[in-house]
Amino acid sequence: MSEQLSGLTDMDPEDFRAAAHAVVDQMADYLATVERRPVMPPITPGSLKPLFPASPPEQPEPLAAILDDYRRLVEPNATHWQHPGFMALFATTASAPGILGEMLTAAIGQNAMLWRTSPIGTELEQVVVDWLRQGVGLPPEFDGMLTDTASTSSLIALAGAREASGFSAAAEGLAGRDEVPSLRIYLSREAHNSIDKAAMTLGLGRASLVHIPVDEAYAMRPDALAEAIETDRSAARRPIAIVATVGTTSSTAVDPVPAIAAVAEREGLWLHVDSAYAGPVALIAGRRAPFAGWERADSIVINPHKWLFTPLDASLLLTRRLDALRTAFSLSRAYIEAPDGSVAPRDYTDFTPQLGRRFRALKLWIQLRWFGLEGLRRRIDHHIELAQEFASWIDADPEFERLAPVPFSTVCFRYRPAALRDGTDAGSISERLDALNARLITAVNGTGEVFLSHTKLGGRYTIRMAIGNLRTERRHIERAWQLLRREAAALDG
Ligand SMILES: Cc1ncc(COP(=O)(O)O)c(C=O)c1O
Repeated sequence: MSEQLSGLTDMDPEDFRAAAHAVVDQMADYLATVERRPVMPPITPGSLKPLFPASPPEQPEPLAAILDDYRRLVEPNATHWQHPGFMALFATTASAPGILGEMLTAAIGQNAMLWRTSPIGTELEQVVVDWLRQGVGLPPEFDGMLTDTASTSSLIALAGAREASGFSAAAEGLAGRDEVPSLRIYLSREAHNSIDKAAMTLGLGRASLVHIPVDEAYAMRPDALAEAIETDRSAARRPIAIVATVGTTSSTAVDPVPAIAAVAEREGLWLHVDSAYAGPVALIAGRRAPFAGWERADSIVINPHKWLFTPLDASLLLTRRLDALRTAFSLSRAYIEAPDGSVAPRDYTDFTPQLGRRFRALKLWIQLRWFGLEGLRRRIDHHIELAQEFASWIDADPEFERLAPVPFSTVCFRYRPAALRDGTDAGSISERLDALNARLITAVNGTGEVFLSHTKLGGRYTIRMAIGNLRTERRHIERAWQLLRREAAALDG
């Protein structure tokens, strides 16, 4: 009988040591060679499932066989977010110190739901949250937590806003209450759909969302915001929150937070700032202009798992209204209370929908120390410079057209050959441009060397180059530009 079957405990510690060394070698090899792989695997949906047995293994299997299968089945079939050519969406790089942090997190096995269940998980989270707060230049009134994603952070913030509106939704719900008017949340048309999902989850529904028009730079129009609030108030609807985005998902537009904060203050509304992608730029004092006024917000989300090179998952929720979050989520039960009835100064589950929580602070603590704020600033600054340079190439090429300002590290553009630059049939030209650019991005991504994504801006098919991968260097941007021009010329042909 194998040891795995005869034993009643975990892997033998010495076997674990040897296996862990082998796994670390595997990880280092992966990182050293990831650039040689196609960023996206050249496979079709549904082709992987049949490679795995349809039923679970009844008998234990040797670790070597399992790791062989990892090499054979897992690595080649991943989309390589660690690849320097990953310029799609917003990058999530797992930095080496972050990976080490994840390994230690798994080994120490903390559940940071209560102080008692993880004193270090709780207090190190407080330390790291405060380090990040200081780093981005926010005042000490902001406290907060680490969550899995910006979607969850915004959900929690808006649950706080819902409680702060005074309708005791957490206690009484909202349905069937004559005294509860129709509640409203304001966000720009370019806001991330996580806000819509939060409204859906919080019982407010998508009907509660008022999507405010944007200006030519895709930023929320504060005049339209004020008007929408006035219209709602005169129709006896009840505004509760405004969501401003600093760095929208499509074009990284910056909503004018000072003007929006003035509206929020005048109207007594909760202001949530979604800076999931761009927030880390505020580490750089000289680049803080887009963040002016965010210190007036009630809550702010920044994702370390985007532009702070932290392995998924890590989102930072900062708020000056922890009290409202507590009302939204605190719920005691005998099984989580301390046996002596004492109450810890901080039990993070009081502020979150879930009980169990990962010890996310550990990897951030390791990373912040390994890079130092200065190391992070230099890398972020470099990405912004690369994006500005790429934008200048687009601007200088008459066959390409930039479709949005570049306040951070994302460039939105499209191919627009001379033949499609003028003409009377705007409708058919714009359809042809959309189709052409869809073919262009497919061809460029098909090379496997880079991965770009697209969006729609003002109804136009838009290619996005989002620079934020820790391993991306100037030569990768140059190569992407070469490929774009090469494949565009081939399309013309
Ligand atoms: C502005 C903004 N907010 C929220 C999100 C959602 O982030 P997450 O995947 O962490 O929920 C994104 C994702 O790109 C984003 O760009």
